[in-house]
Amino acid sequence: MARFIHSILLATSLLSSPSQSRILFPYERRQLTREYVASLPEEDAQLFAFGDQFETLAVNATDKRCRYGPQDGKWPSDKAWQKLAKQLSTTDALIKTTPQASVCYGTTKNEAKCQELTKNWNNSYTHIDDPTEVLSPIYQGLTCQPPAIYDSGNCTLGGYPSYVIKAADVLDIQLGINFARNDGVRLVVKNTGHDFAGKSVGAGSLSIWTHGLKDIQIFDNYVDESGYRGPAVKAGAGVQDFDLYKAVNDKGLVVVGGAGQTVGAMGGYIQGGGHSPLSSIYGMAADQALGFEIVTPTGEFLSANSTSNPDLFWALRGGGGGTFGVVTSVAVKAFKDMPVTAVSWLLDSATIGKDKFWAASQAFVDRASSNADNGTYSYLIMAPSANGKDYTFIMQAFLAPNKTAKETTAILSPYFSRLTALNIPFSPNMTEYKGFYPAWQAHFPLEAQSDVQTAYGSRLFPRSNFDSETGRNITFNVLRQTLEAGQSIIAFNLGPTLARGGNPDNAVNPAWRNAVLHAIAGRRWDVKASVADILAARKSFTNGTMQKWRDVTPGSGSYLNEADRLEPNWQQSFWGDKYARLLQIKKEWDPKDVFWAVNAVGSEGWTVESVDGLPDENGKLCKVNTTSSAATADAPMLQAF
Ligand SMILES: Cc1cc2nc3c(=O)[nH]c(=O)nc-3n(C[C@H](O)[C@H](O)[C@H](O)COP(=O)(O)OP(=O)(O)OC[C@H]3O[C@@H](n4cnc5c(N)ncnc54)[C@H](O)[C@@H]3O)c2cc1C
Ligand SMILES: *[C@@H]1O[C@H](CO)[C@@H](O)[C@H](O)[C@H]1NC(C)=O
Ligand SMILES: *[C@@H]1O[C@H](CO)[C@@H](O)[C@H](O)[C@H]1NC(C)=O
Ligand SMILES: *[C@@H]1O[C@H](CO)[C@@H](O)[C@H](O)[C@H]1NC(C)=O
Ligand SMILES: *[C@@H]1O[C@H](CO)[C@@H](O)[C@H](O)[C@H]1NC(C)=O
Ligand SMILES: *[C@@H]1O[C@H](CO)[C@@H](O)[C@H](O)[C@H]1NC(C)=O
Ligand SMILES: *[C@@H]1O[C@H](CO)[C@@H](O)[C@H](O)[C@H]1NC(C)=O
Ligand SMILES: *[C@@H]1O[C@H](CO)[C@@H](O)[C@H](O)[C@H]1NC(C)=O
Ligand SMILES: *[C@@H]1O[C@H](CO)[C@@H](O)[C@H](O)[C@H]1NC(C)=O
Ligand SMILES: *[C@@H]1O[C@H](CO)[C@@H](O)[C@H](O)[C@H]1NC(C)=O
Ligand SMILES: *[C@@H]1O[C@H](CO)[C@@H](O)[C@H](O)[C@H]1NC(C)=O
Repeated sequence: MARFIHSILLATSLLSSPSQSRILFPYERRQLTREYVASLPEEDAQLFAFGDQFETLAVNATDKRCRYGPQDGKWPSDKAWQKLAKQLSTTDALIKTTPQASVCYGTTKNEAKCQELTKNWNNSYTHIDDPTEVLSPIYQGLTCQPPAIYDSGNCTLGGYPSYVIKAADVLDIQLGINFARNDGVRLVVKNTGHDFAGKSVGAGSLSIWTHGLKDIQIFDNYVDESGYRGPAVKAGAGVQDFDLYKAVNDKGLVVVGGAGQTVGAMGGYIQGGGHSPLSSIYGMAADQALGFEIVTPTGEFLSANSTSNPDLFWALRGGGGGTFGVVTSVAVKAFKDMPVTAVSWLLDSATIGKDKFWAASQAFVDRASSNADNGTYSYLIMAPSANGKDYTFIMQAFLAPNKTAKETTAILSPYFSRLTALNIPFSPNMTEYKGFYPAWQAHFPLEAQSDVQTAYGSRLFPRSNFDSETGRNITFNVLRQTLEAGQSIIAFNLGPTLARGGNPDNAVNPAWRNAVLHAIAGRRWDVKASVADILAARKSFTNGTMQKWRDVTPGSGSYLNEADRLEPNWQQSFWGDKYARLLQIKKEWDPKDVFWAVNAVGSEGWTVESVDGLPDENGKLCKVNTTSSAATADAPMLQAF
């Protein structure tokens, strides 16, 4: 089969002068070319042509009201899919979706396999390493879960994609984008599937799965035309936190990555901003980006950095995944490793009583600005106990980068003194680590699969909320009310101010720059709840609980990567005054909305017409009917807060 595989240079030969030429991984050198497309028979060329190639052949499928689904006459024929499969890098790169839990249903039922799968279902790797599963299954539509977890009745594809390209190179990605665009098929991108809102799945879609792009290259002295000179790492789109931290640790370096072990560091994480255990000293992950390699909506493969396509470079640093193209690798700054002290502790109202519990919890939250200003990060959970009568405060990790145990004790001493004054017994577990990697390994356990009956939402609490005693009381009281209403809170205390990120101008939500607390709440419903009951629960969460959070943080926002799918006024909430420019960049680079994800930049014109009536990916992607959409599509932002 004819293929345009360019010669593969050894990575080491590129080390000498990084800013002189484009640095590509071997898999980024295997590309689709216009000449190759032109050499194909016309019928095949139509399938794979670049967006701007062959005016006369242009297929206007993307102008239709809905993306085609497998039931539609214009859905690509089996022959067309076979042609796609044949062009891809490996013979098994095109995967026709079979949900894992199909072994639990109907004619494909296999009791032993189903039991084995059920046993492993809570293990996040069951989903991360699968081409189509995601960690927030409610947004797939729960159409094929193991019955012991959720009885799906039948196993259907629901919001899973129809086909997946297991991408091994840029060529695969270009072919996938061109094929989907030219044929009116919905396109989605899955990396790890961590997305909170279901952005990495979609019914009737062709999914590009970037998980296998794991190359990593470390530079001792990267020279960037923007002025940066120093250590850096270029990592493939499929690299996860555990891959990245290990690789740089071996060289005595650290990078700004996520807390979660398996988060896709160069996928949705960094493109959505990326908060980190190191954010209070270095800023957001997106602030560290030096350059992206990306396949755009037209199928073009190019660089976005400070000198090449700077508008796209700006947008990719905080504008969100699945919106501007498929990123194939990112180069980011790295830093010298440093000692890290980590502390964990637990308080339980069953032991100390409720009054002391609330006072002690507030004593910690009240210190959010001071902790962040000392460069620390913490990850804590406040939750009602299983019996609903008590509450726990779990400090999973109070992380003090570049601080000794003694310095960390000094930072925590006002809080510890307060606990002592309240006569609360406590035994913090403090450990001093030689470097970041062992501290991170010890304090961040593997994430579990999300359940099938919870929605999440979040809010960025600005520093100003903690300036006065009145403000601190008001802030803590809304958190307390949330817990008293039976909902759990996961909170991060950090301060990724602009100064810490080196003052870059990028698309990161400006609300992050004033924030010292990022809190997530979860609202559960009964696993057998009806559609009406789920919608009611979600309404009382989004417009009740979360509205109270918004009311005490006027003008702030929410972190798009860990947000409510039903977030109101999401353009302002996720991007504030950056939205207008983002929308303009989206329109320039993707006027036909080849890339679409819920609540992504420029997503206003389309909606998933879900078949179950719930907000999920189980339905066709269609244009919003104009009568109701005109206002939103044309003036998408800035209802006054
Ligand atoms: C357990 C857990 C822990 C987390 N911890 C943190 C944390 O510490 N800090 C933090 O900031 N966030 C954290 N998150 C949130 C995380 O940042 C988001 O879920 C993020 O979207 C993950 O990106 P991904 O690529 O791994 O996931 P995916 O779900 O695969 O992708 C997310 C979005 O990005 C798009 N995308 C993925 N790869 C690409 C690509 N190469 N090019 C273009 N678009 C792409 C997808 O289409 C999708 O829209 C956590 C989430 C979970 C579930
Ligand atoms: C930006 O990308 C171009 C094209 O790939 C490359 O030549 C240039 O060196 C890059 N610039 C920086 C600052 O890395
Ligand atoms: C595509 O649309 C353009 C105008 O938008 C039209 O001129 C052209 O004929 C269309 N092509 C096809 C193949 O329908
Ligand atoms: C998965 O975990 C949840 C909560 O952690 C638990 O309720 C459930 O029973 C677990 N399911 C299985 C099959 O282990
Ligand atoms: C399963 O699917 C069949 C055929 O689509 C349908 O008749 C039946 O009602 C479904 N069963 C359940 C429990 O959803
Ligand atoms: C770490 O601490 C040392 C000594 O206090 C200081 O010189 C250095 O600048 C700190 N590094 C960072 C990244 O804050
Ligand atoms: C660091 O912590 C100490 C003790 O909690 C506090 O007094 C001090 O104000 C903090 N430093 C900053 C810069 O906020
Ligand atoms: C303290 O924390 C460390 C790191 O998580 C752990 O190995 C150790 O067992 C903990 N000690 C106690 C007493 O909990
Ligand atoms: C804040 O709340 C505490 C008790 O929780 C109360 O004693 C104090 O008076 C309150 N302060 C203000 C300014 O409201
Ligand atoms: C919240 O209220 C607004 C305005 O009344 C409404 O448009 C929206 O649908 C509600 N959200 C939910 C989740 O019910
Ligand atoms: C939009 O209009 C089409 C008919 O043009 C209709 O089939 C569809 O149900 C409508 N969608 C919504 C969400 O009202």
